[in-house]
Amino acid sequence: MIGKLNHVAIVVPDLTAATALYRDTLGAAVSQPVDLPPHGVTVVFVTLPNTKIELLHPFGETSPIAGFLKKNPSGGIHHICYEVDDILAARDRLKAQGARVLGDGEPKIGAHDKPVLFLHPKDFCGTLVELEQA
Ligand code: CO
Repeated sequence: MIGKLNHVAIVVPDLTAATALYRDTLGAAVSQPVDLPPHGVTVVFVTLPNTKIELLHPFGETSPIAGFLKKNPSGGIHHICYEVDDILAARDRLKAQGARVLGDGEPKIGAHDKPVLFLHPKDFCGTLVELEQA
């Protein structure tokens, strides 16, 4: 059911330093920082040949990743995102198998303007999983 790995999201305490690390030390192509106020994050997109890395930093007072950064002051992997062809079919299949979908279970428009859902980390090997409609 799941398709390509769309991205791995890493929360970082210093976006400028993390961007320099990926650009200068690892030699990757990085974007300018993009503020996404509805999501409460500023993101730098790192483009790799086969997937993307998203460097996330809290934006605004009520950022959903502020707590993560408090618990992980040096940053860490926040979630991984898999593509699916039909997000509602994927959701229904997962729910039928007992997986918990976060929030109200309805897809939201994600950072790439496509419908996304998040799955409970306790149901997926301790990893927050995002599904994105391809
Ligand atoms: Co994501």
